[in-house]
Order: sequence, then C-alpha cells, then structure tokens
Amino acid sequence: MNKKIAVIGAGNVGATTAMYLAEANFADVVLVDIIDGVPQGKGLDLTQAGPVRGYNAMVKGTNRFSDIKNSDIVIMTAGLPRKPGMSREDLLAKNADIVKSVGKNIKKFAPKSFVIVVSNPLDLMTFHMQRATGFPKRRVFGQAGVLDSIRMRAFISMELGVAMTDTQAMVLGGHGDTMVPLPRYTTVAGIPIAELMSKDRIKAIADRTRVGGGEIVKLLKTGSAFYAPAAASVDMCRAVFNDEKKLLPASAYLSGEYGIKDIYIGVPVVLGAKGVEKIVELKLNKSEKAALQASAKTYKKHLKFLGY
Ligand code: NAI
Ligand code: 2OP
Repeated sequence: MNKKIAVIGAGNVGATTAMYLAEANFADVVLVDIIDGVPQGKGLDLTQAGPVRGYNAMVKGTNRFSDIKNSDIVIMTAGLPRKPGMSREDLLAKNADIVKSVGKNIKKFAPKSFVIVVSNPLDLMTFHMQRATGFPKRRVFGQAGVLDSIRMRAFISMELGVAMTDTQAMVLGGHGDTMVPLPRYTTVAGIPIAELMSKDRIKAIADRTRVGGGEIVKLLKTGSAFYAPAAASVDMCRAVFNDEKKLLPASAYLSGEYGIKDIYIGVPVVLGAKGVEKIVELKLNKSEKAALQASAKTYKKHLKFLGY
C-alpha cells in the first residue's frame, strides 16, 4: 500500500483503531506503544487476520517512533485513563506530558502528516498537540464530536426502531460534561426529530448522549469505550484520504467563530484532503449559543492550568 497511517498507543482504542483501519484496507498501519512486545504482538495478529478478513494492509507494531516516518495521518490515542485517587488535574498533567513528547516525535518523523487526537481531555490535548507539533491548525484536529453524535444517532435508532444509517445528529462543544447536543439539527431521513418524538424523550436522549462515555465506564468498570471511538476516528481518516468534504463535528481551532477564539472545541467542520477545510457556523438560538460559549469558557480555564 502506498499510504501509511500511524496509530500511537496500542491500548484499547489504539488497537481497535488499527483493526478497523486494516479492514478499511486503504493504508498500511504502524502501531506504536512504549510497552515492549504489545504493539508488535497486536500488529502481527492483525496482519495475520488479513487473508480471511479480505485485506492486504500490513499492521506493523513497534516501540520506535522513527517507524512513523512519512505517515500521512497520525492518530494519537496514547494516554492514561483516570484511576481511583487521581484528580482531573493529575490526568491533565500526565496526558499533557505524553502528548508533548509524542508531538515532538510526530514533528520530527512525520512533518507533513495530519494529526487526529483522541487522548483525553480531548479538546485540551488537541490544543496541546497543535502547539507541540507547530503544524497548521487545519492539520491537527480532535475526534470526539463524531463519537458523541453517533451515540446520539444510535439512541434515536433504538428509540424509534429506525435504521441507524437514516439518522443524523449534531453534537457540539467540549467532549465532557459541557457538551452540547443539538436536537434542532438532528433528523431521521431528513425529518426533524421533534416531529417524531416528544420533548421529554428528546431531552432524555440528549442527556444520555452527554454522559454516554460515563455510561460505558460504569458498565466496563476497568476502562472506557473503544469500539465506537475507534470507528469514529477511522471515519475521519477516510474523509481526509478520500477528500470527502464530509461535514461532521470535530474539535477544531476557533478564531472568532461562534464568538469564541484561541481554543479547540467541537464545532461542525468540512473535512477533506486539506484537513479542516471549513468551520461551519450554524444559526444557534440563544440557549444553544450560551451553552457552547459556556463550554468554551470551561476549557479556557483548563488551558491556563497547562500554562497557556
Ligand atoms: P489504554 O490504557 O487501553 O491505552 C493507552 C495506551 O497508551 C497504553 O497501551 C500505553 O502503554 C500507551 N502509552 C502511554 N504513553 C505512551 C507514549 N508516550 N507513547 C506511546 N504509547 C503510550 O487506554 P484507551 O482506552 O486506549 O484510551 C486511550 C486514551 O483515549 C485515553 O486518554 C482515553 O481517555 C481516550 N479516549 C478518548 C475518546 C474520544 O472520543 N476522544 C474515547 C475513548 C477514549
Ligand atoms: C468516551 O466518551 C472516555 O472519552 C471517552 O467514551
């Protein structure tokens, strides 16, 4: 294959992302982790599935960052999940260190790549990655909105008994408690959901979406979601590779759009061969706009903690 995607972190999200990428069969994959043997073992295992899963993509596992050389896209999934006794600030500081060191390696070995950040806290780590690489902002963006909106789509499909693929949803804001699901921009086969379900059910679905990650953490007990997050990241890769000009929510750098500037936060973007090609400004009503701006305010505060 003549395209190459690097996945940093061979844990739950990273390894599953490598699997979906191999199955998509549009690039070879390099899976990097600091743990000796784990990326190598998972890479070999995934490569050996190719003959019966019908793909020719090679998945190479490694501990050497130099192996990401000339990658077209780098997906950053390395980072710690929160453990008992750890504060949000502890996680922020630890993952910020990881993002900074990985960012330097991306800059060195894959200077022309696009970077899709998945590590949490997502919007802050995306900002930090852009600073660490110094790449143009259109080439560094975060995956969270696709995950949050496919969660909402799945809930709508479960509620109404309609095809998942007929649903569309838009979720903006930061990937956390302040996320902003937008029922007004959510449809089934083009029909606004307000025509199909009661206000109470719409509110319940928006609320469930907002805590969708936590719902899975509670069930798994030892970690967080990985299948849907990995699928969402691969969807973004495909949009860039195929120059799809796909309109989806992503964590993107704002320079005044929605009255917000100098932070990364979830907004609708057009994703294509140049990365974030456009930020789409939806007409938000007063309360939607206030919710998005409140979300941004929270992240501004946390950026200060990172020294920005
Ligand atoms: P995990 O613990 O299964 O895997 C993380 C991996 O990163 C480990 O294998 C670890 O060895 C590796 N790692 C740590 N430092 C590294 C470094 N410097 N270089 C390379 N690899 C390194 O965790 P999981 O479940 O895969 O989650 C990864 C991150 O993604 C977490 O921060 C999590 O909160 C976040 N996440 C974000 C989502 C989103 O939608 N944005 C959704 C799900 C998870
Ligand atoms: C999620 O939303 C933990 O960010 C992760 O599942």
